[in-house]
Amino acid sequence: MWFKNLFKLMSHDMAIDLGTANTVVYVRGRGVVLNEPSVVAIETENGIQRVRAVGDDAKLMMGKTPDAIQAIRPLRDGVIADIDVAEQMIKHFIQKVHGPRRFPRWPEIVICVPSGSTKVERRAIRDAASNAGASQVWLIEEPMAAAIGADMPVTEAIGSMVVDIGGGTTEVAVLSLRGLAYTTSVRTGGDKMDEAISSYVRRNHNLLIGEATAERIKKEVGVALMPADGKGQTIHIKGRDLVNGVPKEIAINQGQLAEALSEPVGTIVEGVRIALENTAPELAADIVDQGIVLTGGGALLEGIDEVLRRETGLPVTIAEDPLTCVALGTGRALEEEIFRGVLTTG
Ligand SMILES: Nc1ncnc2c1ncn2[C@@H]1O[C@H](COP(=O)(O)OP(=O)(O)OP(=O)(O)O)[C@@H](O)[C@H]1O
Ligand SMILES: [Mg+2]
Repeated sequence: MWFKNLFKLMSHDMAIDLGTANTVVYVRGRGVVLNEPSVVAIETENGIQRVRAVGDDAKLMMGKTPDAIQAIRPLRDGVIADIDVAEQMIKHFIQKVHGPRRFPRWPEIVICVPSGSTKVERRAIRDAASNAGASQVWLIEEPMAAAIGADMPVTEAIGSMVVDIGGGTTEVAVLSLRGLAYTTSVRTGGDKMDEAISSYVRRNHNLLIGEATAERIKKEVGVALMPADGKGQTIHIKGRDLVNGVPKEIAINQGQLAEALSEPVGTIVEGVRIALENTAPELAADIVDQGIVLTGGGALLEGIDEVLRRETGLPVTIAEDPLTCVALGTGRALEEEIFRGVLTTG
């Protein structure tokens, strides 16, 4: 037993949250060791494609690449848009974590895949991990991983609700006894919030801004709830004038951002409402006590918890570290025997 545990500690067993916005890697006994954007920069030279950069380095290139280089997000809207590039990305991250050392044994890998992915895509992801050196590949559903990561009572006969607001999708799930009693997924998450901000400034200020700028504004001053004075904080944004094409700067306040974000936020609220309506009465009664737990980067949008509290009348809490919660849950599913039942092979 002692020897077996020591062996496990020396292993490189891994849990990977393959998100549409970020990929997070957890290593057995070490916790989260890598958290980088799910972006790959591909260079095409004489018709031959080559990976130029992956993760943080590739994200910095987004919207700024010359013609020969393309910064690609292989997962979009909660589905895999480019499986070949996704495969290259997984291999890159696995190798980055492993380092050049030879492993004491081939690692076991648990991957949390977007729930919208098809059987064929899941198989491709599994193959990518196997090709990168995994001896055994397990998959886990994202809401289950999120709930385990948020320390929710998933193994007990108590109903609980998790809302994971990711980059591509928002997954709403009711869990009980290690199973998903109900799940629904809406194709609205952080990306749609960024798009809503871009289109708002285009329509109202004739200003074109890039994806990265929209995301930065959202993180810095975005709000889900209208500020009490209707304005809140004001910030300046730079972009390109739609009419005369020159760079310009405009001012925007949080009241305007709340207005811009009202549509994606409303869609998320609607998803939660539908899930609540479809929850069996006994489980619904538990949720009244347990409340709703928010995970995923979108949970960090200021005021989103308050909006959900007001709309549902239920207690709403934000998981401790929403951005790594799914990876943590995936890691615990790998490490703790009690969760083994939630892993699947395809
Ligand atoms: N402080 C913040 N305020 C608002 N949004 C944020 C904040 N920090 C991160 N986000 C957003 O969270 C999203 C990423 O969240 P997360 O890493 O959970 O997604 P993901 O797991 O990659 O996506 P998915 O689960 O849909 O596959 C991005 O859209 C990012 O802009
Ligand atoms: Mg996610």
